[in-house]
Amino acid sequence: MRKILSGKKWDKVLDWDFNKPEVKWFVGGKLNITENCIDRHLATRAKQTAIIWDPNDPHSESQCLTYQQLHDQVCQVANMLKNQGVKKGDRVCIYMPMIPEVAYAMLACARIGAVHSTVFAGFSAGSLIDRINDAGCKIILTSDGSYRGEKKIDLKSIIDDAITKCPTIEKTIVFKHTGVRVSMKAGRDFWWHEQIEKASAHCEPEIMDAEDLLFILYTSGSTGKPKGMVHTIGGYMVFTAYTFQTVFQYQPGQVFWCTADVGWITGHSYILYGPLAAGATTVIFEGIPSWPDMGRFWHVAEKHRVNIFYTAPTAIRSLEKAPLSFVHQYDLQAIKILGTVGEPINEEAWHWYHEHIGRKKCPVVDTWWQTETGGIMISPIAHVTKLKPAFATLPLPGVQPAVMDESGKELATHGVEGRLTIKFPWPAMARTIYGDHQRFKDTYFSTFPGKYFTGDGCKRDDEGFYRITGRVDDIIIVSGHNMGTAEIESAIDEHSAVCETAVVGYPHDIKGQGIYAYVICYDTPHEEENLRSEIRDLVSKIIGPIAKPDKIQFVSGLPKTRSGKIMRRILRKVAEGEMHNLGDTSTLTDPTVVDEINTGAL
Ligand code: WT7
Repeated sequence: MRKILSGKKWDKVLDWDFNKPEVKWFVGGKLNITENCIDRHLATRAKQTAIIWDPNDPHSESQCLTYQQLHDQVCQVANMLKNQGVKKGDRVCIYMPMIPEVAYAMLACARIGAVHSTVFAGFSAGSLIDRINDAGCKIILTSDGSYRGEKKIDLKSIIDDAITKCPTIEKTIVFKHTGVRVSMKAGRDFWWHEQIEKASAHCEPEIMDAEDLLFILYTSGSTGKPKGMVHTIGGYMVFTAYTFQTVFQYQPGQVFWCTADVGWITGHSYILYGPLAAGATTVIFEGIPSWPDMGRFWHVAEKHRVNIFYTAPTAIRSLEKAPLSFVHQYDLQAIKILGTVGEPINEEAWHWYHEHIGRKKCPVVDTWWQTETGGIMISPIAHVTKLKPAFATLPLPGVQPAVMDESGKELATHGVEGRLTIKFPWPAMARTIYGDHQRFKDTYFSTFPGKYFTGDGCKRDDEGFYRITGRVDDIIIVSGHNMGTAEIESAIDEHSAVCETAVVGYPHDIKGQGIYAYVICYDTPHEEENLRSEIRDLVSKIIGPIAKPDKIQFVSGLPKTRSGKIMRRILRKVAEGEMHNLGDTSTLTDPTVVDEINTGAL
């Protein structure tokens, strides 16, 4: 008889101590996640579509890949990696567009026990260098270029820039996608299409421990460099599969479309691992919602008869501004369930989504979670939980939130507002920050000892329903992307004219939050607009276009306390346009800077 799965059952379900912190799920369990996501389905679904790929250009053919084809492709890429010397435990950087090969690449790493570190292909060389060096990646998988609507982006040239500062990188493998001319360095850069020919489609899965690393994924911190969140195999697999099936009530045969990029946790958990573990059909969409017009999402949803649609509030808000004819020209009857993720959804956007996309028939699941949580934590269960616009509603079964006041006391009743913590482990929680366990402890387990601190504020209403109110630290969420203000500040400070910077978020109609920078220059700038565009370009070059400040105000000083700390509360108020409500400013060294800032506010 054919062996169905390798591996071994766990000896103990959970071992944990939030003070260390240390968490282990399925202790002693052995498995390979790709067997669960692919091989296990072959007996019954070899011919079922696993992945539908919809390319950037609406006139190009989309591709449907069956589970059997996915199996063969993943095994081939796995062998290609082995041929290049990649071994169990090696870190592999993946910097690729939204094409099927990015899925093969990630799964191929998992097949051979290598750890993937996927970097969103919108990040610039600077961000890439930090991430590659922090993880000590050995090889980069990339493509010549990517498409973004009408634009082409030369990914390989970004890699060429970065690689000179990445001593651990030995090789790159380049997938030919846009056909742009690239420079290939002999002995270091290899074409994917040439290497793949030498690789067979049979690859035994490496048997891994449940607590071995599956991937590292970077997320911004409120201070310092991005944090490499470490996710391990067993718990992550179980939790992404469980939450996928539970929240979306996925039924066999349905088509699921999550519009995120695979470079974010949403893409890892709900384009790839969760849906594939559940044997679903998952969509990989290469395009953008606004090209060739604002109807693109709905066109794709109609074309592939999407049943479950999962996107970010920022996308909904921008599509809501377009004429309704962009929605109504498409048949969206197949859609049964809608989801959102990434930031609080305002009631207006919720209602528009529910009415126009869901025809008032589809539940909207507002799913709260984080890169660190690995999977959905607080969310309605479609058709089960009562919906309440702008509320993530209730914790999923097994998730134990606790709302804390600032003094560290748990607010155990209903009708409270405070900081959101989780007091019991869940399987997909990050186990550490790669190479810096102390930072993991300090960031997440020290504010409220014995509890995981999310960094979010929340309300629990009289019914016990949760509404997430946003970050309470120096992280801002811009178009659903999590960004540290400190990181943006240090990028702006790189400009030779700039002496000091403070960055805060402010409410933005479409992006949720916009980026507002207060900048002190050595000399009063003469050409303010020129300097603004230089600063924007610089930030784009160092971090990526998503981090460009929306507003830059030049100031001669910043409100500081006598101990030298910037009073961000005041800067936030001014950025929000609340100039008269600044609260206590008596501890400032020089209160006159506040007047100046107020007068020049943008
Ligand atoms: C932060 C995590 C989870 C994948 C995408 C973002 C905010 C996320 C919601 C929601 C209100 C939300 C939180 C969280 N957030 N989902 N449904 N309602 N806020 O992952 O980049 O790690 O960001 O996104 O502030 O802490 P991330």
